[in-house]
Amino acid sequence: MDAIAALRAKYLGQTDQASDADALEAVRLAALGKKGEISLKMRELGRMSPEERQIAGPALNALKSEIDAALRARRAALDDAALEERLKTEWLDVTLPGRPRPMGTIHPISQVMDELTAIFADMGFRVAEGPQIESDWYNFDALNIAPEHPARQEHDTFFMHRAAGDNRPPHVLRTHTSPVQIRAMQAQGAPIRVIAPGRVYRMDMDQTHTPMFHQVEGLAIDRDITMAQLKWTLEEFCRAFFEVDQVELRFRASHFPFTEPSAEVDIRCSWEGGQLKIGEGNDWMEILGSGMVHPHVLRAGGIDPDQWQGFAFGMGIDRIAMLKYGIPDLRAFFESDLRWLRHYGFQALDQPSLPAGLSR
Ligand code: DAH
Repeated sequence: MDAIAALRAKYLGQTDQASDADALEAVRLAALGKKGEISLKMRELGRMSPEERQIAGPALNALKSEIDAALRARRAALDDAALEERLKTEWLDVTLPGRPRPMGTIHPISQVMDELTAIFADMGFRVAEGPQIESDWYNFDALNIAPEHPARQEHDTFFMHRAAGDNRPPHVLRTHTSPVQIRAMQAQGAPIRVIAPGRVYRMDMDQTHTPMFHQVEGLAIDRDITMAQLKWTLEEFCRAFFEVDQVELRFRASHFPFTEPSAEVDIRCSWEGGQLKIGEGNDWMEILGSGMVHPHVLRAGGIDPDQWQGFAFGMGIDRIAMLKYGIPDLRAFFESDLRWLRHYGFQALDQPSLPAGLSR
């Protein structure tokens, strides 16, 4: 009996002290392995007298079970501790803000679209969208540009192919964002305040023109909208967009089929020392076309011109992006040159907003 008590104390003690899975396995082999001390003792049972065996057998079996249970318990405790340790070191606070990595960047055109969306959203304008492949009704007729109107030629339109014998008018790649005015009026009715940034296409390619470029359309219709509100809206936009306190706009009488009266808008700027400054100097730069929406256009949008009126404008996004960020060549926008993108691009996680700042 003493021998069994000694074995029990020895192996329970070693089990308790084993500090990892390997040490524990060594204890198991020494006690219960094929050549383990307790296994050898069990083999001796055969040589005992029946009386001795009756006592030693159950005692050895009980010891074997007890040590086996102690080993398992210790293994479980070690596993738990290891897991605990891992959880401590691998802990991750998923509520932390992401770390910006110097990899991809936001293209200046996308950045400018985000910026102007933030500015106009603050003034109550929602973003409206329309298809880039447009019917010629939406692109022209609905905007009061009749089939024989010279504007159809001026727009250098890309026409889509129609199957031989199909005499319907062809679809076009939209030449401006103005058709989105019609779609938005049809979908929402009046009153309405929307902007529509997006791609437009014209068959034109030189230093200052690319066959695809970007515009943003604006439309505000209510019972009593006037040109004064158009002027305020555009001034407010320019101040916020160019991030200067002072801007001065000049409205020049002009003509567009879809507005009456119409005005082209120039912004005061200076080119002194080859450096462009908005809001000072003696130069003017044209940035957009605008006017009061023509009654025919309201009607095409399903809105009664005797009840409602409003203003519209269309602005070239590429142009104002070049002005704001000092980008000298329009064509660079479309070259996908990574070095250019890294230089002029913006961090993906810096979302432009008026409170946080538009550009950083
Ligand atoms: N659609 C015109 C263009 O592409 C720009 C424009 C001028 C849009 C006057 C308007 C506007 O909404 O009122 O040249």
